[in-house]
Amino acid sequence: MDKLQITGKAILKGSISASGSKNAALPIMIASLLSENGLYLKNLPALQDILTMKKLLENFGIKIKKINSQTFFDSTNINNSLADYDLVRKMRASILLLGPLIARFKKAKISLPGGCAIGTRPIDIHLNGLEKLGVKFSIENGFVSADVKKNLTGAHIKLSFPSVGATENIMMAASKAKGETIIENAAREPEIEDLAKCLNKMGAKIAGAGTTKIIIEGVKKLSKSEHTIMSDRIVAGTYVIAAVMLNSEFIIKKIKPDLLSTPLEVLQNMGAKLEIGNDSIKVLPSSGIKGIALKTKPYPGFPTDLQAQIMALMSVAKGSSQIKEMIFENRFMHVSELNRLGAHIKTKKDVAYIEGGRSLKGAKVMASDLRASVSLVLAGLYAEGKTTINRLYHLDRGYEKIEETLGKCGPIITRLK
Ligand code: UD1
Repeated sequence: MDKLQITGKAILKGSISASGSKNAALPIMIASLLSENGLYLKNLPALQDILTMKKLLENFGIKIKKINSQTFFDSTNINNSLADYDLVRKMRASILLLGPLIARFKKAKISLPGGCAIGTRPIDIHLNGLEKLGVKFSIENGFVSADVKKNLTGAHIKLSFPSVGATENIMMAASKAKGETIIENAAREPEIEDLAKCLNKMGAKIAGAGTTKIIIEGVKKLSKSEHTIMSDRIVAGTYVIAAVMLNSEFIIKKIKPDLLSTPLEVLQNMGAKLEIGNDSIKVLPSSGIKGIALKTKPYPGFPTDLQAQIMALMSVAKGSSQIKEMIFENRFMHVSELNRLGAHIKTKKDVAYIEGGRSLKGAKVMASDLRASVSLVLAGLYAEGKTTINRLYHLDRGYEKIEETLGKCGPIITRLK
């Protein structure tokens, strides 16, 4: 299994461009199942999760072709086969197959999904919402079976929590339901807006995506269209935090800073010097970074997907910090590994207490989930000496060849086979 060896005391030089967003790409790729004759996508990131999703879609008869800078998902002849368990279990986003499959075939059967081991991650909000559209479910032997008697029918749905995936699943199913669907307490993440934009280009009638109330007027047919995936705000935010941590002058390009307004504000409050452009963020060396207290929240709050990265920064900031994780239970698995590198972090339930000012030292560590892995990369780049990160496949799910991307900007990072 691949490992990453990082030489510490690194600095970043030059610039980096944010890749296409994984979390926007996955649901949009699944949305190709809704098109009668395919979908052209641009700016798909080169990630393991994207390859897994391609394989999963091929299971359903989608033919995928690369045509210049576009990838064509040909959905002219799709079938409703049983999704490969080995693929589904690798990715929680597989649950998003339910809505589109039911919309196309009136029934679906998929195994319960996996993904990062962060908390129990149930799917009740997905199922409750789809039930309101007329779907009947049963769960047996690790599979969810769903069917709808006649047609999906529009409904008024109020989510018990603004789940990103549930909002996307319901939005996709409702775009082909009979009549109007209203989703209240919808998640507002920008990736949902990107999915709605793509669906609208395919012929859907969705208004309000990006707000707490989404209104979907069902249509009979969705058809061929083209869409460019938005930039990855989490990848961009990770590199901003890395540059602040390494006290480097560094530019992150191809990102709308508005998408990161809360994390950028937190970093500025910690003492980071940032120059915010129209579609770039420049980090400047600062005279000192100090600790802060924050809570992760649904968008536009501080993203849980940047929690591990900012915790690495807090470990070396002056003074103490606190993080309350409000989205996922059990999302502190990076703590013990950061502590192995010299951090001083204690957790009590959903709060992490970070004592800053630590001088980190390279060590062998283990990646436990996607964002946890990259927090270890950040800590390894800062630390004195060499850090080896084991179980690299988590990192490859969300960051394009990080050793090359960051390697071009100065750090020495080697992949060991
Ligand atoms: C998406 C992102 C993930 C991000 C998360 C929160 C993708 C592919 N993944 O995940 O990177 O960390 O949003 O911003 O876009 N929940 C339930 N029942 C449900 C659904 C969710 O209890 O039916 C809970 C989850 O266990 C979790 C919380 O709600 O505690 C948030 O989950 P959700 O917003 O659904 O996240 P995902 O869509 O899985």
